[in-house]
Amino acid sequence: MRTKLAAGNWKMNGLKAALSELGEMAAAASGPAEVLICPPVTLVAAAADAAEGLAIGGQDCHAKASGAHTGDVSAAMLADAGAEYVILGHSERRTDHDEHDEDVRAKCEAAWDAGLKVVLCVGESLEEREASNTLDIIGGQLAKSIPDGATGHNLVVAYEPIWAIGTGKVPTTDQIGEVHDFMRARLEKRFGEGVGRSVRLLYGGSVKPSNAGEIFAVSNVDGALVGGASLKAADFVPIIEALNASAG
Ligand code: 13P
Repeated sequence: MRTKLAAGNWKMNGLKAALSELGEMAAAASGPAEVLICPPVTLVAAAADAAEGLAIGGQDCHAKASGAHTGDVSAAMLADAGAEYVILGHSERRTDHDEHDEDVRAKCEAAWDAGLKVVLCVGESLEEREASNTLDIIGGQLAKSIPDGATGHNLVVAYEPIWAIGTGKVPTTDQIGEVHDFMRARLEKRFGEGVGRSVRLLYGGSVKPSNAGEIFAVSNVDGALVGGASLKAADFVPIIEALNASAG
């Protein structure tokens, strides 16, 4: 059985005062679902110290282990600060920093070398969906951005349709199920049934307390990658609880 995962991506939000949200989130993390918070990099070490029972992650890392890369952060630095996970290939990185599948793949290898688990994001644009290219796009991103050597331990895949991020628009449960079933099949084909079945698949994009339950009931949805609604315990705790309830 795959352990459910409620993951929060704080993006570029949160000063030290935001750490006060973590206590209640940690208290909600005593159920069957694992809870991960990925704060801005400035808060990773403090969050890891503050939040017993929560996993902490970064939101990006460099593909190189060290060197002359001003402003960048290596996977080993994140691990050293107490991170267990790193998000890679988020559409905001792909767009704002011109990251391509090849870059994401190299970063993923660097993260694994440093012992981090990767939450690897894929997702189509509205144009791609309207042109009925969603599965082609997702299949290509999975093939090109995941290195060989994936396991259920070192990889989580997050399906985040770009048009659903921060917009309040959510795909239908049928649309989510179609993509998640497809991703499961692709992972089983490439990595074998055992590994393919053990990789957790998250949905992300406008997940809120009000829609979490129906999303968590979709086949092959093992949790969520939550942006805005992960910033406050009042929003994120009900999402964690909905995931715990879906774990039965
Ligand atoms: P929202 O939950 O704010 O739509 O963001 C989703 C996301 O991008 C998480 O990585």
